[in-house]
Amino acid sequence: MKSTNDNVSIHKVMKNLDLIRVTDAKVKYFEALWEIPEGVTYNSYVLHTSEGAVLFDTVNSDFSRDYLEALRSVTDVRDFRYVIVHHMEPDHSGSLKDLARVEGFRAEVLGHPLTSRLIKSLLNIEVKFRQTRDGEELKLGATTLKFIHVPWLHWPETMFTYVEDFRTLMTCDAFGAYSMPPYMISGAEYLSAEYVRFMRKYFANIIGRYRENVIKALDKLESLGLSVDLMAPSHGAVLSGVDVVNRVLKLYRSWAEGIAEGGKVVVLYTSMYGYVERMVEELLERVADRGVRVELFKFTSVHRDNVADFLGSLLDAGVFVIATSTYDGGLFPITKYLLSLVVSKLNVEKPTYLITAYGWNDAALRELKNLFSSSKLVLKGELTVNSTPTKADLTRLDEMTREILTQSGVSP
Ligand SMILES: Cc1cc2nc3c(=O)[nH]c(=O)nc-3n(C[C@H](O)[C@H](O)[C@H](O)COP(=O)(O)O)c2cc1C
Ligand SMILES: [Fe+2]
Ligand SMILES: [Fe+2]
Repeated sequence: MKSTNDNVSIHKVMKNLDLIRVTDAKVKYFEALWEIPEGVTYNSYVLHTSEGAVLFDTVNSDFSRDYLEALRSVTDVRDFRYVIVHHMEPDHSGSLKDLARVEGFRAEVLGHPLTSRLIKSLLNIEVKFRQTRDGEELKLGATTLKFIHVPWLHWPETMFTYVEDFRTLMTCDAFGAYSMPPYMISGAEYLSAEYVRFMRKYFANIIGRYRENVIKALDKLESLGLSVDLMAPSHGAVLSGVDVVNRVLKLYRSWAEGIAEGGKVVVLYTSMYGYVERMVEELLERVADRGVRVELFKFTSVHRDNVADFLGSLLDAGVFVIATSTYDGGLFPITKYLLSLVVSKLNVEKPTYLITAYGWNDAALRELKNLFSSSKLVLKGELTVNSTPTKADLTRLDEMTREILTQSGVSP
């Protein structure tokens, strides 16, 4: 590994393939939305062929200066024959603007037909652009690139490239992850549970809304019969070896199909003055040591959990519990926001239980039920307390606990 400075490193993935990796430890809210204290990397790849160098995607423009310096250390950027754009979101296309300004830059830019419009609108530059056809092959000496259109993962212009002679699939956002892992994971045994969580979180935050297109893309890869030894995404680690590639393909299919992990319950709650929190504590006591794994996300006056983590965790939960209160004649605002994300991003079928608290009019429950009509959440049970629970409320909570355990696949 060569390091040009703290943020940028260069790795030889294979004899003819360099990875230029930017680590962004400063980003707090990815897409100005997702909390990622684990940071993120932007991966750009340079393929050297006998007929010139090819660049696959760039990085976030905040890092252009160091990125260009790193690029120059692996090739003369004036010699780039092609720049392949898999996706125009600026975390991958931003530095193309600075690259295109380099004196003598003359590469042809290849991408999905919709890409040229986005080059104009997002980057406002003129480049030699050529659109690719789905399945088109480009021969460069002994190297063959095959372009595979995979629209709406998560923008309309998304594309993969298969480098035939290295059995390498360049996938941009797909199969990527947050965090700053080692540059390469060689073998399924090195795919840690923590890294899978970062991958699942990225999937839930960024791609989850387009689960049906993920399934189409996975089917397409299968029907093309490509053998993939190496996956090169634009965030996180390069995945090397058939076993790790297959494992990640399987994970993607299971997330895209919304398959739940048995025994996992996600509890989301808000509490202003502790009434809802008391009910959640009562519930947690009842499910403790009963064989379910509870992941708790709370929003109170002293604590706010990570929304991006919450979505990642909910993606494969078997049961979802929402506990919240009434506020100004409606649903507590943070709950409204979180559920709008659940509906728009995940939209998976999920057995859901509601616990609401109110002072004089249980508007939270009414609004929650309305939200259900526009979602795939399946309302399985509800319990409402007039702030302090009565004995009858706690008996109802006993029943609800039994239902939750059964629903999670655990005998009550
Ligand atoms: C700012 C504020 C606004 C509230 N608005 C309503 C309301 O519109 N209708 C209602 O029935 N209760 C309302 N309440 C009462 C709470 O919903 C009720 O006390 C509930 O138990 C609070 O639970 P929590 O402290 O766990 O959030 C409000 C409470 C607060 C603090
Ligand atoms: Fe993206
Ligand atoms: Fe991205």
